[in-house]
Amino acid sequence: MTIVLPRHVAIIMDGNGRWAQEQGLPRVKGHQQGVVAVQSAIEAAVQHNIEILSLFAFGQDNWKRSSNEVRSLFELLWMSLKREMPQIIKNHIQLRFIGDLSRLDQPLRTNIERTQQLTAKHTGLKLIIAINYSGRWDIVNAARTLVQKVQQGEQAGSVTHEQFAEQLALSDLPDPDLLIRTSGEQRISNFMLWQFAYTEFYFTSIYWPEFNQQTFVEALQTFSKRQRRFGLESSAS
Ligand code: IPE
Ligand code: IPE
Ligand code: MG
Repeated sequence: MTIVLPRHVAIIMDGNGRWAQEQGLPRVKGHQQGVVAVQSAIEAAVQHNIEILSLFAFGQDNWKRSSNEVRSLFELLWMSLKREMPQIIKNHIQLRFIGDLSRLDQPLRTNIERTQQLTAKHTGLKLIIAINYSGRWDIVNAARTLVQKVQQGEQAGSVTHEQFAEQLALSDLPDPDLLIRTSGEQRISNFMLWQFAYTEFYFTSIYWPEFNQQTFVEALQTFSKRQRRFGLESSAS
């Protein structure tokens, strides 16, 4: 049987806090263990020749959390970026960030920009990290740009959904084929609202720190059995 692989896999990495709490550990330990799971996900994606891996690392709604938790999440990001650079370079990974980076501290932004420039020509896995991202923010941003174009004389009535999509964060890449969400929650939580129009969803009850290559393979196998129709009639298989 030929296995149909997704080109683009998106992941909502959820359940770090519950994983830690169930073991009597502070939530930050869950986030630390979550970084190990990120490494597994990247390795699995590379091994299965996935073209694009998009990880939801921090949503705009996550600013509502305690300042301690927010600080430790950004510290972890900073440290992971530094520590993982040799691996990223060795594996020719192209690292890109989406989200409103203007709210981040300047040193982190500089680091992010430098990393993006350094890896821009890499031809391996495209790794997208969503930080201070929200699907609604992405759509509103696109709408703002289009409003400006209309003010400059473009006909509002002739704007197509393709032109709209060109203004979104990942406009140069195909939409995710597969979304994986851990921790048993079955929702999108303001991730890629537009881009998930025809994405296949795979929900698993394991917490993010428990995610490993086996989980990734299970998600790929489930995806391979799905019949994607994009509005067409069903076909006997
Ligand atoms: C995901 O785990 C990490 C982020 C949202 C940054 P959570 O921290 O949401 O874990 P739970 O959902 O509280 O268990
Ligand atoms: C979604 O997880 C955001 C990230 C994984 C970064 P949340 O834990 O914040 O989502 P809700 O609040 O349960 O919907
Ligand atoms: Mg959560």
